[in-house]
Amino acid sequence: MKSFSSKIGVLLAAAGSAVGLGSIWKFPYTVGENGGGAFIILYIACSLIFGLPLVMNEFLIGKLSRKSAYGAYRTLDGTNRWQWLAWTTMFSVLLILSFYFVVTGWCIYYMVQAASNTFSGMNAAALTTFFNTFEKDAFVTILYAIIAIVLTASVLWFDVNKGIERLSKILMPILFIMLIAMAIHMVFIDGGTTGLRFLLQPDFSKITPQVILEAMGLSFFTLSIGLGILITYGGYMPKDQNVTSTSVQMIILVIIVSLLAGIIVFPAVFAYGFSPKEGPELTFITLPEVFQQMFSPALTSTAFFFLMCVAAITSTISMMEVMVAFVCEATAKTRHPLGRHQSVVVVSLILVAANILCILSTTGHADCLTIMGHNLFDNANTLVTDFLIPLGAFATAVFTGWFVPKALYQGRGAAIYLILLRWIIPIAIFIVFLNSMKII
Ligand code: PHE
Repeated sequence: MKSFSSKIGVLLAAAGSAVGLGSIWKFPYTVGENGGGAFIILYIACSLIFGLPLVMNEFLIGKLSRKSAYGAYRTLDGTNRWQWLAWTTMFSVLLILSFYFVVTGWCIYYMVQAASNTFSGMNAAALTTFFNTFEKDAFVTILYAIIAIVLTASVLWFDVNKGIERLSKILMPILFIMLIAMAIHMVFIDGGTTGLRFLLQPDFSKITPQVILEAMGLSFFTLSIGLGILITYGGYMPKDQNVTSTSVQMIILVIIVSLLAGIIVFPAVFAYGFSPKEGPELTFITLPEVFQQMFSPALTSTAFFFLMCVAAITSTISMMEVMVAFVCEATAKTRHPLGRHQSVVVVSLILVAANILCILSTTGHADCLTIMGHNLFDNANTLVTDFLIPLGAFATAVFTGWFVPKALYQGRGAAIYLILLRWIIPIAIFIVFLNSMKII
């Protein structure tokens, strides 16, 4: 991630970071919980209307300051007033990774099980029981989360980002093609139309203030907005790179992958007797059933879970890299500056601890971590998606709209861009937020 040879390199790396569990795991179950088609329209609208200026904005902050989130606000604003935002976004990234690695661990476990043909012959009920038993097994889930952390940390430790990037240039398109093939297959299965109708026929009575907040949070999560991650990528952009077209391409790719995941999961949900409101396990219980109806189930499902692991790990690499850079920079001027390798170790240990807490809280081994009736996994997931990411997006928009003396964007549509950042986006996020808290 440190240097990019070409413009396409930045696009692919940013897309590798953005396309991940958000699209393949979080999107389907959030759509299921929020009633289908109408929610998807909101998701796409948020991604295009708010997502585009916000993605461009973060890229531009990085491109013009040539810094990561830690130094960028200070460089552009000339004061320390916005350092709280850098710290808040780092806290959000830490929270995301404390459940993201748990789910990456699930992917690795499912890949291993697929390769051993465990799912063969299991029906919907058996697959649900299988997942629930696995999820409650603290030892195995912790083990696989730690494997995910160690894999990501090794990439950062050995500085093999370039190699991973080259590898993902081949693997991500394969994942994309596989998603398309599976989606086409699912459109034609017996009983699949109910699922498609659920996705494509909007029922606007399902839209509540909370649903709008969820759609916005999910859109920002899948686009990696509001966390300072895209600022880092902007910092690597060549001077003449067109920020608008890079952002548009990235956003369209993320929307397509999310929709494909929906088209794969929902026909299966309705045809094989799962519940669309299943929650975070939805993708994991439906996919093995999907593969059983396909050509060579063991092989295709192993390949798919492998590619899902790659998509997850390219995202965890980008988030952990930013945390490591943050620790290096934040300690640089203290009495105990931490080098890169030391930072990798410190960040990994923090993440192992955070993931273990999250898992113990889910498996029922640490009920003291249950807050407001929810375990740590659910609370971290909700806090990040419904609060911290919108807050990060709100603050970054206000920052560039009002506090950066020089307009960041001067191309075509600059006036609209500025109006969006100064007024429309902050006010909209604020209203959505107050509305969902039932304050207005
Ligand atoms: N967008 C990623 C996903 O959908 C998650 C992510 C968020 C990655 C923020 C980097 C930064 O899985």
